[in-house]
Amino acid sequence: MKVLLIGSGGREDALAHALARSPRLTELFAAPGNPGVARVAECVVLDTADHAAVVAFCRLMGIDFVVVGPEVPLVAGIVDDLAAAGIKAFGPTKLAARLEGSKGFTKDICAKYDIPTAAYGRFGDLASARAYLAKVGAPIVVKADGLAAGKGVTVAMTMEEAEAALADCFAGAFGAAGAEVVIEEFLEGEEASFFALCDGATALAFASAQDHKRVGDGDTGPNTGGMGAYSPAPIMTPEMSERVMAEIIRPTVAAMNAEGCPFTGVFFAGLMIGPKGPQLIEYNTRFGDPETQVMLERLESDLLDLLVATAEGTLAEKTVTLSPDAALTVVMAAKGYPGAVEKGTEIRDLAKAEALPGVFVHHAGTKADGDRILANGGRVLNVTARGATVAEAQARAYAAVDAIDWPQGFCRRDIGWRAVARETAK
Ligand code: AMP
Ligand code: GLY
Repeated sequence: MKVLLIGSGGREDALAHALARSPRLTELFAAPGNPGVARVAECVVLDTADHAAVVAFCRLMGIDFVVVGPEVPLVAGIVDDLAAAGIKAFGPTKLAARLEGSKGFTKDICAKYDIPTAAYGRFGDLASARAYLAKVGAPIVVKADGLAAGKGVTVAMTMEEAEAALADCFAGAFGAAGAEVVIEEFLEGEEASFFALCDGATALAFASAQDHKRVGDGDTGPNTGGMGAYSPAPIMTPEMSERVMAEIIRPTVAAMNAEGCPFTGVFFAGLMIGPKGPQLIEYNTRFGDPETQVMLERLESDLLDLLVATAEGTLAEKTVTLSPDAALTVVMAAKGYPGAVEKGTEIRDLAKAEALPGVFVHHAGTKADGDRILANGGRVLNVTARGATVAEAQARAYAAVDAIDWPQGFCRRDIGWRAVARETAK
């Protein structure tokens, strides 16, 4: 099979390497890819926002299957446009991608089909949002309805913070994504990410992970796209995974069918596991970044085969096999992230890091300049390692981080702390 992978982050580096292991793959292209992806794929310059150009490229190169990494093209309907041209793709249609593209849409689905989630209200203007806020009080969570690159959520411990978040949203801090706001109940418990493939009828549990959203050690400082992750999430025992499938994932599959927009692709459920059991915080409709880097490190099944089965409706015949090993990834970011960063600084000794046992370094925001690798974004590298325990994977990942010579970069030093503490307590 000739495959085109769309995207350019660490997630796509992980997807590319897993696809490259498939015996079904004959040729892999990536648009635009990155220097990590280029180790196993031919990177091409293609404006992926121009769906007609993507279709034309697929026809020219005889692409059999397209794997879409990020959410923006999905929400823009790239899978619909490829399907209309007779090209198979992994990912939801535009209507089904509303599960990620509109938090209000997802909340309404949950309410209508009894899927456990936080109580909420949807508001299109400041006055009615403030009136609701006055009624429910803090702590409370304020969310811009649309895609805001992970920055549209404020967990407000006080009324002042909630008022300020509402004012920001309606003043246009998130552009069109904040024209509508969801206000929801503050949930307590432990967070986990759970992934399940779905072909419109069958949902198949994939893997779990836990990420670290805050920029600083001890989960402090501003939210980011993710500073590290590990898999599996210890709280997602087989029993808990089955509860999530039964109480959240399968009811969503049925709901989307009842609404006339069957879901195909991957459900990325952000969960809060609390006293009432699992509750849905949000859906993403694509693989997570950096969760994918650790989940695919553990995947023993053929990824391409699973993604094609998802698109073709044959998931019922498939199984997902994961290594019992743990995997952990540490994000190395350019100093200043999630604020402004300096680009173009040189990164040395990647080969030294990758020579260490169980280590793989994913490229997220890098650029090649001849033989040199330069930083080219906020989150730059994902230093990933596997081990028999999270503690072992963590020790290996940090040994690799320490082998990399990049004075302009930084990382958290405590990725996996919760899981390591659990292992130590055993
Ligand atoms: P989201 O982008 O919806 O995943 O939200 C970002 C982060 O905000 C989540 O990972 C949680 O840490 C937090 N969060 C979102 N919704 C809630 C909620 N209802 N209760 C508590 N924390 C929340
Ligand atoms: N790591 C969170 C995300 O991919 O949205």
